[in-house]
Amino acid sequence: MVVTPPDKSISHRAVMFASIAKGESRIENLLLAADTISTLKAMEFLGAKIKGDHEVSVPGYGALYENYTITGGGLQLKEPASFIDCGNSGTTTRLLCGLLSGNPFFSVLSGDESLNSRPMKRVIKPLAEMGAKIMARASDSYPPIAIRGGRLRGIKYDMPVSSAQVKSALMLAGLYADGETVITEPSTSRNHTETMLRSIGAEVKEYWITERHKVYSFSEGKDGSHTVTIQRPANDLNPFKIRIPGDFSSAAFFIVGALITRGSDVLIKNVCLNTTRIGLYDALRLMGAKISIENQTILISGAGEQEIVGDLHVKGAQKLKALNISGYQVPFMIDELPILCIAAACAEGRSEIRGAAELRVKESDRIKAMAEGLKKMGIEIEEFEDGLAITGGKMKGARVDSFGDHRIAMSFAIAGLAASGVTEIENGEDAVKISYPEFFDRLDALRNG
Ligand code: S3P
Repeated sequence: MVVTPPDKSISHRAVMFASIAKGESRIENLLLAADTISTLKAMEFLGAKIKGDHEVSVPGYGALYENYTITGGGLQLKEPASFIDCGNSGTTTRLLCGLLSGNPFFSVLSGDESLNSRPMKRVIKPLAEMGAKIMARASDSYPPIAIRGGRLRGIKYDMPVSSAQVKSALMLAGLYADGETVITEPSTSRNHTETMLRSIGAEVKEYWITERHKVYSFSEGKDGSHTVTIQRPANDLNPFKIRIPGDFSSAAFFIVGALITRGSDVLIKNVCLNTTRIGLYDALRLMGAKISIENQTILISGAGEQEIVGDLHVKGAQKLKALNISGYQVPFMIDELPILCIAAACAEGRSEIRGAAELRVKESDRIKAMAEGLKKMGIEIEEFEDGLAITGGKMKGARVDSFGDHRIAMSFAIAGLAASGVTEIENGEDAVKISYPEFFDRLDALRNG
């Protein structure tokens, strides 16, 4: 049995939204990892009163608090006395760009080498259209980002690429804007901002081009845009209470690990099964995998918004067949594509992942990282600008580079289970601290248990 860490996307949002609500919120089971620690520190720096309780020990960090009481003072934050260090976290940076654009003070966001080479024009351009004074390094392309927030106006914005981070940044700015902010993405990306903001009193509406798409059906859905509208709330946002469920994106490594390991029988407890997040589950089932969902329950937060939570039961080794992924399917599994590459390497036939150019601008160039590592492990790979083709085969152990990227490190650790000989991952231990500091301990426990 394994309990995966709390959901990273929900954790970031819980801390930010508690900080802009008026009054005392309670967050239990917050993800304790580098990315969410960046958000906690940032929001404290911006004036939220944050008090932790229930100490737990986290590898690489020592004792940290698991539960938090956050007292927010409403939408108006406090001018920070120095720059805000977002570490490695794209979610912290982009969502904060939205929040800070609406606050009438000066702030600067910066991070580590990886973060400071990630594209920011995608948020800077629409936020500037809304009236923010916002600029960044290399002609507004990369952090550091300097913001002098102020009065904003709602805009209609068509996002060229689906992205929950960009959508969320604009929604947060929309909370401060005159008039309505209307954001359209080419297909649906994760919807936590919509769900959580609505549950604390923001007026968020959603429209889909196809009714079918609305149910987010991965295998039957059609390409179709998703539109979100938001406006400045008439009243303060309400404080809330949330217990964060497990992260499907972290569970993904053990799902694939169990599928490809003979004799395994793994129960992954209490995973958030939000339909915008579980594309990998659908993809693996189309590849022939049998994964059962047990103990499904509905988690209700705030004013009644729901998330489905359940246990995933996976046995191995299962026969997998190749699968092609593209278009609207990509955002449903954007963070799981590296581990899908490992499943594809263990499957029979040639799988192709296309329409995933976004992978090149994640914590590392994930297309290059997966192509390079899998080639070293003896797998036939074809690399495209927007994806890769993988022909399943026998993997052999090799020394592969994580490029300091948590999801690449964890993917190759799982590949190592199926490979002959020894697999070494450069900077692996350090990289996993971003989202799953206990990953290698959990993996060892499962292998020895
Ligand atoms: C996230 C959105 C995704 C994802 C990231 C977390 C979020 O990024 O890759 O790990 O919490 O909103 P994009 O929205 O840029 O695709």
